[in-house]
Amino acid sequence: MAEFALPANSKIGVGETYKAAAGTKNIKTFKVYRWTPDDGKKPSVDTYEVDMDSCGPMVLDALIKIKNEIDSSLTFRRSCREGVCGSCAMNIDGTNTLACTKFISEMKGDIRIYPLPHMPVVRDLVPDLNVPYAQLASIEPWMKSSTQPPTRERLQSPEERAKLDGLWECILCFCCSTSCPSYWWSGERYLGPAVLLQAYRWIADSRDDAIGERLDQLEDPFRLYRCHTIMNCTKTCPKSLNPAKAIAEIKKMMLERTI
Ligand code: SF4
Ligand code: SF4
Ligand code: FES
Repeated sequence: MAEFALPANSKIGVGETYKAAAGTKNIKTFKVYRWTPDDGKKPSVDTYEVDMDSCGPMVLDALIKIKNEIDSSLTFRRSCREGVCGSCAMNIDGTNTLACTKFISEMKGDIRIYPLPHMPVVRDLVPDLNVPYAQLASIEPWMKSSTQPPTRERLQSPEERAKLDGLWECILCFCCSTSCPSYWWSGERYLGPAVLLQAYRWIADSRDDAIGERLDQLEDPFRLYRCHTIMNCTKTCPKSLNPAKAIAEIKKMMLERTI
């Protein structure tokens, strides 16, 4: 009979506990994934008790407070702290989202924080995003025009511009791709919802003249067609975008050009 065992470093141990100061009345407990490549140890989950009377309302506020006041070794990405840079994406209480726009008050009980799932971990809450960024580069996310640049901007009608709504707002946080089962299993070959939404953003742009070339590049059993419309991507997107719809639009255009 076949036996299956997880690799030793996939088993998460119990880490350190950092108690709040005696007398603290308003405590919230955060259980945070920790791993460093430096010490050869397995990952663990550290427990931090945070005084909410001196903490901001967002999960990112708590992480920054932990780093500043409790444990400076805790590592995570952040920049804008207002949901526009995409760098603080992580798995919070089982959902991929942005730490800077997630209210602590929305969650009952202890809050569990892990890196985005199914990606190699650089350290603690920092995932390795080299593969999705290389995939983004592969779709050539810039305008390709066969006409001479005008002296001023390239014009669009209001209707043409409206086709980009729901696409330009993507902040490339990769919450969607890392929630997609197809991307978990075939992430090296399937482009995933974030990159496919970006591909459609250029296909849908009236100023771009490379639609045929872009569709040719996606016409592949893995790059596009590994999407099985499971919809995890749309459910998790912290910007309320619909990558599954963008993927469906690309598939529709693929079909239409064969008729
Ligand atoms: S579609 Fe949403 S979840 Fe996906 S990368 Fe863009 S903003 Fe993030
Ligand atoms: S709809 Fe497609 S891209 Fe979105 S989660 Fe499902 S398989 Fe992944
Ligand atoms: S810090 Fe920029 S999106 Fe959260």
